[in-house]
Amino acid sequence: MPDEIIITSGSMQGLSLVAQALGRRGDTVLVEQPTYMGMIHILEMQGLRPIPIPFDAEGPELDAIERALRVERPRFMYTVPTFHNPTGFNMSSTRRRDLLQLASRNHLPIVEDDIYGMLAYDAPPPLAMKANDPADLVIYISSFSKVLMPGLRVGYMVAPQAFYDHLLSLKRANDLFGTTFVQHAVAEFLRQGRLRAHLKRVLPVYRSRRDALLRSLARYMPSGVTWTKPTGGYSSWVTLPEDNMLAVYRAALGHGLAFTPGEAFLIAPRTSRHLRLCFGNQPAEDIADLVAILGDLIRNQPADSFVKKLDVPIYAPLA
Ligand SMILES: Cc1ncc(COP(=O)(O)O)c(C=O)c1O
Repeated sequence: MPDEIIITSGSMQGLSLVAQALGRRGDTVLVEQPTYMGMIHILEMQGLRPIPIPFDAEGPELDAIERALRVERPRFMYTVPTFHNPTGFNMSSTRRRDLLQLASRNHLPIVEDDIYGMLAYDAPPPLAMKANDPADLVIYISSFSKVLMPGLRVGYMVAPQAFYDHLLSLKRANDLFGTTFVQHAVAEFLRQGRLRAHLKRVLPVYRSRRDALLRSLARYMPSGVTWTKPTGGYSSWVTLPEDNMLAVYRAALGHGLAFTPGEAFLIAPRTSRHLRLCFGNQPAEDIADLVAILGDLIRNQPADSFVKKLDVPIYAPLA
């Protein structure tokens, strides 16, 4: 319904407003482990403490959530249930239902980040959690950054009645209505049905990049390395057999190859064993060569205990 929607300057603003509206300095927030590093940044900058919830095969573990509810009294849970960043995972429909029931019993607001929901390569995407939300506990957040372009800074949230007025006031206190000129341009693009046409054109391109990545990983990764097989979104989460991601990262930069170190997406433990590979912006024809180089580097790097720690923080922590 229009009176549940707030237009935001990208998803980041939606996430930031929610953190301001629902949390106070020192409060805790449940997040998946791993989770989107931008949300970790927002929470840390606002003095909120993220509590990591590990995944099992279906999604964030319910037992861990129940435990954290008892011990930590979190203000909300942040989740990316569809084509999760960085893993590309989808939460199962059973887990979505059970998580919503658990949230409802405990009055725990769920912040659903659905920014990749339209980028499905193999089958229609799962239904958003917000679509089955009888208790009106889900704050749904998305944007046009991944399906059109991040520089538009046009996003939206669907907010439960209980939070709507506060979120709208915060939005206005931040930047009034945002860039309405660009919002009108996006609205016109949508009205003319051009987003659908655009997706029809780009989804096969992203699918071929995803396929190239998975084929190349199978061909070039040394044994012991594992990776996720995303059915949508932009990224795969690669796990190394040893803690030598940092050494691989440094060596890769020397070859003009960049990836995001897994540590950026982890709360605790922040093991040096993971990396996120983004295929969204890599031409399919380059991917095999890049993965072949990466495979060689992984095979040949020493453990991180022999490597000087990176001195550049991924973001500036609170003093
Ligand atoms: C899961 C997730 N949420 C939010 C964002 C930020 O989106 P926006 O550019 O719309 O602020 C990103 C961008 O990478 C993301 O991966």
